Formats: sequence, C-alpha cells, structure tokens
Amino acid sequence: MEFIRDYADWFYLIGAVLFILTLRGLSGPKTAIAGNRYGMIAMAIAVLTTFFVAENPVVWMIVGAMVLGAITGIARARTVPMTQMPETVALMHSLVGLAAVLIAVAAIIHNNELAKLDVGLLQANGVNFHEMSKVHLFELFVGCFVGAITFTASVFAYGKLAAKKWAKTISGAWVKPVQALIFITMFAAGIHFFLTGNMTSFWTMTGLALAFGWVWIAPVGGGDMPVVVSLLNSFSGWAAAGIGFTLENNMLIVAGSLVGSSGAILSYIMCKAMNRSIINVLFGGAMGGTAVVVDAGDKAPRNHRSGSADDAGFLMSNADSVVIVPGYGMAQGRAQNAVKELANLLKEQGVTVRFAIHPVAGRMPGHMNVLLAEADVPYEDILEMDEINSDFPATDVVLVIGANDVVNPAAKDDPSSPIYGMPILEAHKARTIMVIKRSMATGYAGLDNDLFYNDKTMMIFGDAKKVVEDMTKAINGNGH
Ligand code: TAP
Repeated sequence: MEFIRDYADWFYLIGAVLFILTLRGLSGPKTAIAGNRYGMIAMAIAVLTTFFVAENPVVWMIVGAMVLGAITGIARARTVPMTQMPETVALMHSLVGLAAVLIAVAAIIHNNELAKLDVGLLQANGVNFHEMSKVHLFELFVGCFVGAITFTASVFAYGKLAAKKWAKTISGAWVKPVQALIFITMFAAGIHFFLTGNMTSFWTMTGLALAFGWVWIAPVGGGDMPVVVSLLNSFSGWAAAGIGFTLENNMLIVAGSLVGSSGAILSYIMCKAMNRSIINVLFGGAMGGTAVVVDAGDKAPRNHRSGSADDAGFLMSNADSVVIVPGYGMAQGRAQNAVKELANLLKEQGVTVRFAIHPVAGRMPGHMNVLLAEADVPYEDILEMDEINSDFPATDVVLVIGANDVVNPAAKDDPSSPIYGMPILEAHKARTIMVIKRSMATGYAGLDNDLFYNDKTMMIFGDAKKVVEDMTKAINGNGH
C-alpha cells in the first residue's frame, strides 16, 4: 500500500500509456480485442492506485460502489443486444456527467466546511488558508457545467434511442431563443461564481446547465442521435478531465482528455462521412428520414428491373468477382449470418468475394464491421471505402444488401441533392448491380436513388435474410 502511494505517478503513467494503446488497438478490427484488454488493465490500475492514494478513504462506501458498479456493468454487458449499444453508451455517458457534477458539488461543500473552520482559525490567530484559488473555481465551474449538460443531454439521447415516451423531440420558433436564454443566463451565473465564489450563482448555473442539456438535444432528430452520442462522449471526457484537475488526479486528466479528443474526432469523421456539419446536426433541427421529402410529383414514373433470388444466385456463381455492400437493411433484417454463408458458398465456387464498408453505413459507427465480425467474416475480406472504390469498375457483380444512401450516385453527380459531396461506395461502376431491399422506399436521408433505375441494376425485393438464404439455396440447387 505504501509502495503504491510512493509510486502512484508511475502507475498512472503506465495506465495512461495503456489507455493510448487501447485507442490504437480499437482503431482496427484485428487489434480491437487486444485494445479492449489494454483498456481493462489500464482501468484496473487507475482504480486501484486511486483507491490506495486516497486520504482516509471510507472503504465500505468505495468498495460497495465498486461491487455495485461491477455487478450492474457485467449484467448489462452480458445481456445487451448489439442493436441497443448506442443507447447503452449514451446512458453510460450520463453517469460520467452526473459524477462530474456530484464531485464538483462535493468539492465545494467540503471547501465551504473547511472555510468555516478557517473563520475560527482566522479569529484565533489570523490564519485563513482555505480561500479557493481562481484556478480551482474555474475547474469547478467548467467541470460542473459541462458535466451537467452531458448528464441531461445523455439521458435524453438514451430515451430517444430507446424510443421512450418521455424523450419527445421538440420543435418550434421558441426553441432557439429559449436555448440562447438558458445558455447565456447559465454562463453569466457561472462567471459570477468564478469571480465571487457565490453559492447561489453556483446552484443557478448547475440547474440551468441541467435544463440546457435537455433543450439543446431535444430538437435533434432520432437519426442524428449517433453523432450526438459521440459528441457527448467527447463532453463526458472533458468533464472528467476538468474534475481530474479538481481532484489533482493525473490519471483522470489524461484519460478524460483522451476520451474528449477521441470523441471529438469521431464526431468529426461521422459528420464528414454524412456530408453534414456538427452545427447543422446540433442546431439544424430534426433529420432522419423525415426532413427531406422526395418530390415525386414533378417527376415521371421511372422504370426499374426486378429479378428473383434464383436469377441472382445464378449470375453470382458465374462471376469472377463479387463485392457485397451491406447497409442498414442487413442490420434491420439480421441477415449477417446468412450473408456470410452465401459468401462462403461463392468462395467455394472459386468466386472472389469481398465486403465494402462505408463509414456511416447502418446507424452507428462501425455498425457493419461489428455485425460482420459477429458472423465471423474474415477481416481480410472486409475493405473500407477508400480501399475498394477503385476496384468497382473491374467487379462483375456488386450485391447491395439493404444499403441505400451510401451507394446513391446523386452524392457525386447531382449538385442539387442534399447529399451532394458525401463520399459514397461507387457501386454504380460495377458491371452488374443487384440490390436487395423490400420496396423502392427511400433510406435514412429520404432521397430517391438513381442506382435502382440504372440499366445494369436488378432489384430483388424481399427481406434481406430471406432473399440471401434463397440465393444460397438457388446456388446449392443449381449444383454450380
Ligand atoms: P439507408 O440509406 O438508411 O437505407 C437502408 C435501406 O435498407 C432502406 O432503403 C430500406 O429499404 C432497406 N431495408 C430496411 N430493412 C430491410 C430489411 N429487413 N431487408 C432488406 N432491406 C431493408 O442505409 P445505409 O445505406 O446504410 O446508409 C446509412 C444512412 O444512415 C446514411 O444516410 C447515414 O448518413 C445515416 N446515419 C448513419 C449513422 C452511422 S454512424 N452509421 C448515424 C446516423 C445516420 P426498404 O424499406 O425498401 O426495405
């Protein structure tokens, strides 16, 4: 114990390096498991070291909280389905925000108690050493209001993603002025607290920050929530870093900064891949399949070609190369295992089969990678957009499974399209295109897709899993 206390900074340094290795590991599917392990070790080092360096710890409270947290965490981790991951992450961020607020409140109450003792000392012998420094007040101010915003915003994001009734999207002309009013008043109260240490200002700031978190995120549409969750991840990191300064805990400062910056980078990458700005996501109002309406009225009806799973199976088994583009529909239809079987069968027939992954295919970062990994698709068969795009012209068949926006050529050709400029998988360049979906309905962005009307395209209508299984049966039945 004494040893840990003496070398605490060294343990924190080891923990910090392991956290950096964690992020590095998590950047690729092959290294992700090792990355997770580094993270677990780093967290264990951080918790244990902090436990032993604490002055007069109330052991039963800390151990009790750790046991309770571990039981809840393990139970949740074992039962949460992959589809509920985004809302679970949002809920966890809310706890980081709440912890930041509680620590700030505890630090202030503790300091005020010490200050009362000081008054006695001051009267007795003229000493007053518990005046809070300006730096300290600033850390508390920032840590507390960022934490409070993160808390309520994350609770709302959780509710929205879990389709809870109480998480209602708000809209109307009143929203922005109310947001601005709450924010300005919150900031003014925070500055007043920072300058004077006034407790009424502190409580006002905290209360308004809690309210702001809610009204800030409530107008954002459900479809944009994944970007918001990633941004809140970043916020929770900054709040933790701020509190790290308050607690003079170097580990918390480093870990908080890593979470803060990686969350910010992820939000940026997601926005870029969706051709949106973060300002547009946060203040542009609801989007998510409803905001952009296809104006079908002034367009002549267009023709598309449809075919059967049998035709498609026959074509693919005679191809040299097939690229599979999975999208949200594969997740929705839980078709990943069926898709893997189809890919294996085609490979057995000598067809080169690869998967092309768009960075925002599906509804959460890495959605397709996670599903394909779950189905045990080999990592070397899975290629990112930049790696595969130049291969499409030489590809015999591209099989689009429940993807829509991420293969919409309007993003390249139509400057009037809301998604113009968004990078896409260039499936339209392949020799033959097959698209599995249930209807001609639009995807997340609510836009029609020229790919479906391309002369080279065959639409195969039906649920992704059923159609893929039928394709496999057809290839088996054909004895190819
Ligand atoms: P989408 O454009 O949303 O298209 C999915 C298509 O799948 C739909 O057109 C739908 O057509 C079809 N589908 C749904 N359920 C199906 C099922 N059971 N079987 C077969 N087909 C089914 O998906 P995408 O191409 O993956 O693009 C993702 C979109 O989400 C992008 O616009 C992206 O910006 C946005 N977004 C992504 C993220 C992240 S981080 N990934 C976060 C927020 C928003 P039918 O109804 O006709 O079947």
